[in-house]
Amino acid sequence: MSANDAFHIAVLPGDGIGIEVMAPTLEVLRKVEATTPGLKFRFTEASAGAIHYKETGKSLPEETVKLCDGADAILLGACGLPSIRYPDNTEIMPQVELRFIFDLYAGVRPARLVKGAPSPIVGAQEHGIDFVLIRESTEGLFASMGKGVTTHDEARETLVVTRNKTERLFDFSLRLAQRRKKRGKEGRLTLVDKANVFKAFNWQRDILNERKPKFADVKTDMLYVDACAAMMVKKPWDFDVMVMENMFGDILSDLAAGLIGGLGMAPSADIGDKHAVFQPCHGTAPDIMGQGKANPTATILSAAMMLDWLSDKHDLPAAGEAAVRIENAVDKAYETVKPMEFGGKDGTAAISKAVLAAL
Ligand SMILES: NC(=O)c1ccc[n+]([C@@H]2O[C@H](COP(=O)([O-])OP(=O)(O)OC[C@H]3O[C@@H](n4cnc5c(N)ncnc54)[C@H](O)[C@@H]3O)[C@@H](O)[C@H]2O)c1
Repeated sequence: MSANDAFHIAVLPGDGIGIEVMAPTLEVLRKVEATTPGLKFRFTEASAGAIHYKETGKSLPEETVKLCDGADAILLGACGLPSIRYPDNTEIMPQVELRFIFDLYAGVRPARLVKGAPSPIVGAQEHGIDFVLIRESTEGLFASMGKGVTTHDEARETLVVTRNKTERLFDFSLRLAQRRKKRGKEGRLTLVDKANVFKAFNWQRDILNERKPKFADVKTDMLYVDACAAMMVKKPWDFDVMVMENMFGDILSDLAAGLIGGLGMAPSADIGDKHAVFQPCHGTAPDIMGQGKANPTATILSAAMMLDWLSDKHDLPAAGEAAVRIENAVDKAYETVKPMEFGGKDGTAAISKAVLAAL
């Protein structure tokens, strides 16, 4: 925390609807600050993303990285636009660069069904959905990014998992299950893998067995990724915390977002030992940008995750209570709002207004 006891937050609004939903999210944080003794913020905005690249030739400027490095937390809007690309035709993705720069190995993707949001799963409203999927975010199959080898006859990409990263990832995941148990959840971690086929995942199972005695109150189990996909659709309420390799998590985290109504409802965090980035799961939605239709809920809930993380890191219960108040305000708002995303009539302004009123 900075000298004047305010949390310094680096705010990177990004592109497209990223910018549109960041503004009301800051209003929510300002309202929470005004009503929570001991909780103060200092926001500094900085540039990153496709428009900035188009204007300056840089997607993530050095000054922005420096700001993020010194800040207590990073709040990031969606970045990238399909129409703006690097010369090699790939897209501008500062969100991925930040993961590598700050070693943000734990991709935390909560899936909590807000009452009133449509889930495609039969029985979801009655049972509820409330689990957290943790995706390792810096290695796995993605370790091969830019290093794949192709010839006329074959293509190779190599999966890499390291002991150092796996131990930290499992400790983080076990601790999250432990924290959730204190809040009345089951306190169970499921390792999702493909240990029936690959040695690397058996090796990771051994590492989980080594780490879990330090978290004796947390239950653990292990599940193959294919069976997990089916379970997530049949009985998503049976999961508490799950952890998995990068590529498995890349796919299953979007499935998780689908279970709770869609991308506009899904918050996320990329967390390392020192830094953390909080951003919605969705992209910049070029098809609806500039029309006031974007659902700000995912970004508002990402801001709540940021408060929970700051509370834990700085031992400041008031920030954790503020996070719960934001979640409760979202739940209350959904008693009346129906986002355009779900075929309703409410856009960014109406949803934001309802959340602010419920706070
Ligand atoms: N983390 C990130 O910054 C991130 C993530 C995904 C995609 N992207 C980028 O965003 C751009 C568009 O990608 P895409 O179209 O594949 O994915 P997208 O998430 O932007 O959009 C997919 C669909 O979901 C809708 N949608 C997404 N968020 C919404 C919200 N909050 N409210 C209402 N509807 C919403 C969109 O209108 C669209 O129909 C691309 O340039 C891509 O690279 C960035």
